[in-house]
Amino acid sequence: MLSLSNVSVQYGSFTAVKDVDISVDKGELVVLLGSNGAGKSTTFNAISGLQKPGAGNILFEGKAINGLAPDKIVKSGIVQCAEDRKLFPQMSVHQNLIMGAYVHRKNRKQVKESVESVYHLFPILKEKKEQAAGSLSGGQQQMLAIGRALMAKPKLLLLDEPSIGLAPLIVEQMFEVIQKINRDGTTVLLAEQNAYAALKIADRGYVFESGSIVVKGSSDELLANNTVRKAYIGA
Ligand SMILES: Nc1ncnc2c1ncn2[C@@H]1O[C@H](COP(=O)(O)OP(=O)(O)OP(=O)(O)O)[C@@H](O)[C@H]1O
Ligand SMILES: [Mg+2]
Repeated sequence: MLSLSNVSVQYGSFTAVKDVDISVDKGELVVLLGSNGAGKSTTFNAISGLQKPGAGNILFEGKAINGLAPDKIVKSGIVQCAEDRKLFPQMSVHQNLIMGAYVHRKNRKQVKESVESVYHLFPILKEKKEQAAGSLSGGQQQMLAIGRALMAKPKLLLLDEPSIGLAPLIVEQMFEVIQKINRDGTTVLLAEQNAYAALKIADRGYVFESGSIVVKGSSDELLANNTVRKAYIGA
């Protein structure tokens, strides 16, 4: 479904992502692990068109997407839920969700169904649907950001550190919902520092270090890998 080959991304003279190969098959849940500054978000931004790769190729469903404008990439079926959530804080929860369906705005019936399915996934959002997004707690805002991304009906959902800043109990619920989204048919590429929780729900993963992939494998392989355990799991 998605493949990156030899992708590099520069910020000026600094190479943030170097010669990266990643593939995601339809239906999979794949995780990118790595500590702060390892290159996860930069890779996401290259996929979603926010950063132009300096080298390499990105194919989505057989078509080259590197260099396409971000809105074209959304239309092709890739939707990113960014690390900083990018909600519209003054607008209500409901309005934020409707904004997420912008590419499908002409199909009002579908938009209505999508809103209902997001409320089903996150009942708290339904309870707070008239409240300003900026008044929600961190975890609720994260749910809203994911819900808004789902409104665009992605084939591939890019989730950048959805568990950041959340309390342990909420983190657990968040990973359960991500697994449910995947099982309901959305392919998911997840960036996480919370390696253990992410590998428990993922099929496979890649480990980034200073912009390069240093280890890859199935979740079981990565959970058993000494380097991964030492660096990210602490046992
Ligand atoms: N806009 C930018 N301009 C210059 N350098 C940048 C920019 N964005 C990121 N970088 C640098 O690129 C490297 C990779 O950053 P990136 O945000 O991809 O890491 P990350 O793996 O997502 O980290 P984190 O877990 O902290 O979000 C870092 O060294 C960072 O300082
Ligand atoms: Mg990041």
